[in-house]
Amino acid sequence: MLATLDKLQEDAIGEIDSIQTVDELESWRISYLGSKGRLKGVMPLLKDVSKEEKPAVGKRLNEVKRVLEGAFDSRKAALAGATAFRPPLDITQPGNDVAQGRRHVISKTIDEITEVFSRMGFSVAYGPEVEDEYHNFNALNIPEDHPARDPVDNFFIDGDRMLRSQTSTVQIRVMESTPPPIKIIAVGRVYRPDTHDATHYSMFHQCEGLLVAPKVSMVDLKSTLFQFAKAYFGEEAEVRFRPSFFPFTEPSAELDMKMKIKGKWQWVELGGCGLVDPNVFDKVGYDNDKWQGYAFGLGIERIAMLKYGIQDIRWLFENDARFLRQF
Ligand code: FA5
Repeated sequence: MLATLDKLQEDAIGEIDSIQTVDELESWRISYLGSKGRLKGVMPLLKDVSKEEKPAVGKRLNEVKRVLEGAFDSRKAALAGATAFRPPLDITQPGNDVAQGRRHVISKTIDEITEVFSRMGFSVAYGPEVEDEYHNFNALNIPEDHPARDPVDNFFIDGDRMLRSQTSTVQIRVMESTPPPIKIIAVGRVYRPDTHDATHYSMFHQCEGLLVAPKVSMVDLKSTLFQFAKAYFGEEAEVRFRPSFFPFTEPSAELDMKMKIKGKWQWVELGGCGLVDPNVFDKVGYDNDKWQGYAFGLGIERIAMLKYGIQDIRWLFENDARFLRQF
């Protein structure tokens, strides 16, 4: 019986090395390890083995089984590897698609807004996102006890350093470094610990505008924003001012735009604006007798949501490619 087992192992190992296909390997497995295979076939011989020899024969039987199973597994892996590395070459197949990225809808909106204001003669200014309290509040005529300065409503970093809560900081930085006249927009990120909901996020973008010239009135401000609305949202768009209050503008207004949303005309608030407060000019050393100005600050997410019919601001920042791919 031991000799039969030796012969069986020798035959099996001799054959398996020359096997080249998965089908051949399966036939090999059936013929040696299958329920009617050669290994099962020697089992009946066990009953003729003497009692003394039985343990040795049993041990050898298990060993042959293990060797054959091991040989099967390694040949299977070798064949799988060979197939994986040698794919059949079909030169008539179309090439593989390379997934292309695209600009985020907010970047796209920023470019579009910048383009419209550039055509109206505004240049683009930038300022830091990590600011100090002076540029975020004091220079904008926001007093120490103003509720907007509450630490729970701002992202303070250390001491008086903070993440800016509005792009109005750039008005100050530009006026500190540039003599009038001025005609700029400043676009960028701002941060507020607002609770996330369909229209609020803790990081969002604003587009600030600042014009400083010898004579500036609310009519100039309104006609500029009116032209922007028409250029960006279409001829039928309208703007409306509602009286409001900002410490750095006097008078101040909320800007609403009338636009068609799902076929219905609606007024939507886009941001704040007004004429630059004389206290702000004092802070940056501009002569109030010679210069006047207007300023505005628009929420960019709000604009993108209206333009592209996006119903929830949170979708903009979830990085779901299926959503972002639409724009
Ligand atoms: C300001 O931030 C003023 N700096 C605007 C301004 C500039 C007034 C210049 C006068 C002169 P307000 O806090 O209202 O204003 O924000 C302006 C716009 O930002 C809002 O109308 C809204 O569109 C957007 N906004 C405010 N908070 C959020 C938020 N949490 N998520 C998304 N957008 C927001």
